[in-house]
Amino acid sequence: MSNENFTTTDAGIPVESDEHSLTVGPDGPILLHDAYLIEQMAQFNRERVPERQPHAKGGGAFGHFEVTGDVSAYTKADVFQPGKKTEMLARFSTVAGERGSPDTWRDPRGFALKFYTEQGNYDMVGNNTPVFFMRDPLKFQHFIRSQKRRADTNLRDHDMQWDFWTLSPESAHQVTWLMGDRGIPRSWRHMNGYSSHTYMWVNAAGERFWVRYHFKTDQGVEFLLQEDADRLAGEDGDYHTRDLYDTIDKGDHPSWTLHVQVMPFDEAKDYRFNPFDLTKTISHKDYPLIEVGRMTLDRNPTDYHAQIEQAAFEPNNLVPGIGPSPDRMLLARIFSYADAHRHRIGTNYRELPVNYPKNAAVRSYSKDGAMRIHPVSDPVYAPNSKGGPSADTARFGEPAGWHTDGDLARTAATLHAEDDDFGQPGTLVREVLDDAARDRLVSNTVGHLLDGVTEPVLQRAFDYWRSIDKAIGDRIERGVRNKQ
Ligand code: HEM
Repeated sequence: MSNENFTTTDAGIPVESDEHSLTVGPDGPILLHDAYLIEQMAQFNRERVPERQPHAKGGGAFGHFEVTGDVSAYTKADVFQPGKKTEMLARFSTVAGERGSPDTWRDPRGFALKFYTEQGNYDMVGNNTPVFFMRDPLKFQHFIRSQKRRADTNLRDHDMQWDFWTLSPESAHQVTWLMGDRGIPRSWRHMNGYSSHTYMWVNAAGERFWVRYHFKTDQGVEFLLQEDADRLAGEDGDYHTRDLYDTIDKGDHPSWTLHVQVMPFDEAKDYRFNPFDLTKTISHKDYPLIEVGRMTLDRNPTDYHAQIEQAAFEPNNLVPGIGPSPDRMLLARIFSYADAHRHRIGTNYRELPVNYPKNAAVRSYSKDGAMRIHPVSDPVYAPNSKGGPSADTARFGEPAGWHTDGDLARTAATLHAEDDDFGQPGTLVREVLDDAARDRLVSNTVGHLLDGVTEPVLQRAFDYWRSIDKAIGDRIERGVRNKQ
């Protein structure tokens, strides 16, 4: 009986066998002209792309975002107009672990979204925490190195983590989140996502606003206890990956409701916290949440490599109506991600189906480069008088920006009243956490510090916690000293 589902080479040519190489007689040597054997070996040797530098371990799914509120007074972005439904992709990740590392290690979780909008792809690359460890991008690379592996032992090392953190007091707010319950979500479905940064929104009249995004999980926030996470790290390193895949596969589609905090443009200057400092939250009392819409994940990838590993999220993908802010971490990220993708995936990474706009036409002047997929046509330069695309400056020419001037400087100086590093984490510990959550924060931190942190870093860690909250710092010191 003929088999129409026969194996072919990558060139579509029928292959002679799935199992037997071409040899000279039954016991003879294999032949170099067995092109199919060579194709199998050569492709296999090239199957891996470099893993992401941070955020290497992750998983994701496709879905859609549906607008349920009306924020058209604040942004003209197509994706956020009333009633709009947009296809999207989400990827969740840990930060410091490698591609095979356990999902349940204590770490912030990445919350990366790609919206295939009619104005081009819009990416929101956030975390499950509303703040971050630093406010200056010059420290990011050093921070990630302190979280990854030592040069000598090739082991992760809590001593270098706390060394970096205690010498970087601006990390206190994020470290408080990290050592608390949010540091190990029960699953990716049970965590919120945040833009963390402040972004700019621009409405149809050209008015500008500052916004922060809060994707609140509709499954409820849940976490894992340290001991359960440790056990799962051994039993099922892919616990979160499996949970997301299996849940969607069963037809249970997780969702998140997006809310934004909106600050009128002129209020940023005198606000009590610097809204462009990523180590600070903006008070919900001052700027309450406004509902925008719901994101639902309803489709698993069918090819993890093509659709998740090669997915390229980049904070530079901003569409009309959404812009950056003066947050210098964000401005650095706007450079960094596309640079990382060109290295990790290749020059034409944007041409891969997962990264290619699904709902907007591409009319760019990029051409050539390794692995070009979409053919270009003449003219290949602008300006031209040959019918090539020309920018519609009347419609899109106004950059989402702000006035700035000043002398060049390297400084963390701030002009806002309450910009100290320990105030907000202190409030988090005293006013947001309850007794049980405070107990877990103490016990998680004590366990972390007992795992290889040495003097003088240890003493600095106690002082760091006492600066956040005297009582918590004393408890952490007692907890460590009693077990040493
Ligand atoms: C991944 C750089 C801060 C969230 C990455 C990658 C780089 C990078 C190079 C790997 C990209 C890839 O290979 O695909 C930086 C720099 C930062 C910074 C230079 C600061 C100056 C942040 C912050 C957040 C964040 C503040 C969250 C608010 C993520 C996420 C991913 C990622 C979620 C994984 C994206 C994915 O799922 O593919 N970052 N990052 N990063 N970063 Fe950052």
